[in-house]
Amino acid sequence: MDKFVVRGGNPLLGSIKVSGAKNSALPCMAAAILTEDEVVLENIPQVRDIETERRLLASMGAEVELGYGRAQHRTRIKCGVLSDPVAKYEIVKTMRASSLVLGPLIARTGIARVAMPGGCAIGGRPIDLHIKGLEAMGATITQEHGYLEARTNRLRGAHIVFDKITVTGTEDLLMAATLAEGETVFENCAREPEVTDLAALLTAMGAEIEGAGTSTMHVQGVTKLHGARHRINPDRIEAGTFLLAGAITGGDLNVDGLNPAHLGSLLGKLEQAGVRLDIGTDCVRVRSGGSLQATDISTEEYPGFPTDMQAQFMALATQAQGTTTVTENIFENRFMHVGELNRMGAHIAVNGRTATIRGKSELQSAAVMCSDLRASASLVLAALVADGETILDRVYHLDRGYERFEEKLRSVGAQIRRMGDVFAKK
Ligand code: UD1
Repeated sequence: MDKFVVRGGNPLLGSIKVSGAKNSALPCMAAAILTEDEVVLENIPQVRDIETERRLLASMGAEVELGYGRAQHRTRIKCGVLSDPVAKYEIVKTMRASSLVLGPLIARTGIARVAMPGGCAIGGRPIDLHIKGLEAMGATITQEHGYLEARTNRLRGAHIVFDKITVTGTEDLLMAATLAEGETVFENCAREPEVTDLAALLTAMGAEIEGAGTSTMHVQGVTKLHGARHRINPDRIEAGTFLLAGAITGGDLNVDGLNPAHLGSLLGKLEQAGVRLDIGTDCVRVRSGGSLQATDISTEEYPGFPTDMQAQFMALATQAQGTTTVTENIFENRFMHVGELNRMGAHIAVNGRTATIRGKSELQSAAVMCSDLRASASLVLAALVADGETILDRVYHLDRGYERFEEKLRSVGAQIRRMGDVFAKK
């Protein structure tokens, strides 16, 4: 298992480029299931979850070419025949977003078998709302041997009110509705930019969708979708992580190729914390504005503060003067980074959904363990300002969602290197 070795102390200086959004790319790749034509996606990040999705689609009989036409970030998918409409457990267990194939599979083939995702480190993460929605659209769903099996002749339009806002649930059912008979109305939808990105691709494929990016969407089902070419949005979470890396190290960093409109809540919090920001049309420059001030956050659905930035913001809070409270409202068990940050010298106490961070702490290097994707990023941020050399174990969590993370950070002055597991290779 690879490790990162990080020596803290260097301010990050220069410019860093953001990759395409993993969380847009995953549903967009799943959308290719809806047509027998070719779908070409640009700006696909080269991260492990994308490779997992490629394996998933290929295992069903799709042709998937990553790095198509010599363009590293272009992907061509052709789901001509889906000989085996099954999402196997071996693949689903490593990536919960695999449940995104449920809706498009049943809509296209009338049958889908998808392994039930297991428990996940950041909470239960059920898919009951995906199931309830498909049932409302006329699918019969049974569960056997750890698999969900969904069947229908043709899905029909329905009026679906989500009990709770769910990002992949909205995406999954939106895809299903594009090929359903009649109109589907969704209420209480997720409004994340990733949903809007998916809706743009589906529209380019011939779907009829109104209201993407708002809480209510109307979808007129069509009988067939066709191929399309689409460019994936920049990754707002990767962008936000780099902005925090610039801020925490007191550097002068330009984060390029992002969409500032997708980062509103984070940028507002950074300004409140005393960080200087120059916001351009597709870049944000972050500079130290003196000492950081404690700024409370509370995670919410978009456009609120993203849960996927909570762990990284907590690393920043350890360097702010005063007491910060961080409330996690989306996932019940998303504080696993706290123990590791405390081992590095932070003062964080957790009570239920709220963490209280007392700053500023002089962080020290330690051997720490990554527990999930964003927790890993949080520990790297802490290590960038810690005294000495921090060793982060299990960086495979980070590799699921950040493209060449250590190379990008190194290019702006961070002392970070990857170390393969010498014992594993023997
Ligand atoms: C997506 C993102 C993830 C992000 C999360 C919240 C992808 C691939 N992943 O995850 O990075 O952290 O949104 O912004 O896009 N829930 C149910 N029943 C369901 C579905 C969800 O109760 O059927 C609950 C979840 O347990 C959670 C909340 O709804 O408490 C939000 O989860 P959801 O938006 O579905 O997260 P994901 O789509 O899995």
